[in-house]
Amino acid sequence: GGGLQQLAKPWHLDIGTAVQPAPFERDERYRTTLTQEFGSITAESQLKWDVLQPAEGQFDWSGADALVGFAEANGMAVRGHTLVWHMALPAWLEKGSFSPDQLRELLRSYIQATVGRYRGRIGVWDVVNEPLADASGQLRKSFWLNALGPGYIADALRWAHEADPQAKLYINDFGVENLNRKSDALYTMVAKLRADGVPVDGVGFQTHVTIDTPPKTLRDNLRRFADLGVEVAITELDVRSAGAATDTSRSGQAVVYAGVLRDCLAVPRCVSVTVWGFTDAYSWIPHAYPGWGNACLFDDAFRPKTAYGQIRQVLTEA
Ligand code: G3I
Repeated sequence: GGGLQQLAKPWHLDIGTAVQPAPFERDERYRTTLTQEFGSITAESQLKWDVLQPAEGQFDWSGADALVGFAEANGMAVRGHTLVWHMALPAWLEKGSFSPDQLRELLRSYIQATVGRYRGRIGVWDVVNEPLADASGQLRKSFWLNALGPGYIADALRWAHEADPQAKLYINDFGVENLNRKSDALYTMVAKLRADGVPVDGVGFQTHVTIDTPPKTLRDNLRRFADLGVEVAITELDVRSAGAATDTSRSGQAVVYAGVLRDCLAVPRCVSVTVWGFTDAYSWIPHAYPGWGNACLFDDAFRPKTAYGQIRQVLTEA
């Protein structure tokens, strides 16, 4: 007790984190902070297609089963991440020579096997991840769009719903935190899906930002999506900076983390804030953005940073 999740409880908010496979298996400090602080887990890799089905026709559920079992044993929720994405595809699929009909059937059976296996245990799925192109407002010219056409989004949501009618089904994307062309396109997409009766229950805002680019119109943006009747969630929050951390960067980071949390708290349908890793020791940022880092709430020795204290502060405000 005493961690972030406990402080968030009166707000009816879940505070979650992405979990990396290697430290989850091997680092006791990692598991201790994880259970102490968080109420929800997102698998950073363990529920992606390349991990679950490394060879055609063969599933390996071991990592996912361990993570879901751990969450249950510790009273934590699981956000299932992610079913339809243009990355983390197994090579046999991406480089194979399948017809559109075969790919459609492979996607359907993959979604139904995965959602079905964890039916009643994984309450939320990021069914479609990153469907939009980076800034144009068009659909991303992805593997799935190329193979199946734009209908793949509605199909995936319907297949997931069949496999677990109780699960909340999300579309998740990045660069849609603010009111902008990309979030307008997402808004139009979700409104149309709802009008067509497609089962979409939520929208995830990844929120990978820098200390200099706080999402200034996040709150208004969350509100307009909530007004469509869907849940909203902050799904992959981290706040990176360039170079070594300084007192200035640490306090700047704290302001951004706290601002995002306040925006979610201000919107009743904002149900969770998930950070994309909680310790700088295992963050994806230095790999993806060389020279950048220090993006998490705990440093690489698992010491809480200024941002962590600021999050606690916001959660204890009346
Ligand atoms: O599985 C191998 C493992 O056997 C090996 O020991 C290890 C050595 O590097 O690599 C392992 O796989 C890596 C995996 O992370 C597990 O750590 C993959 O190479 C690597 O590509 C994978 O990266 C993840 C990436 O998604 C692709 O799945 C990142 O950790 C994860 O942070 C990132 O997450 C994405 C979200 O899903 C969607 N939004 C953006 C976000 C950041 O890119």
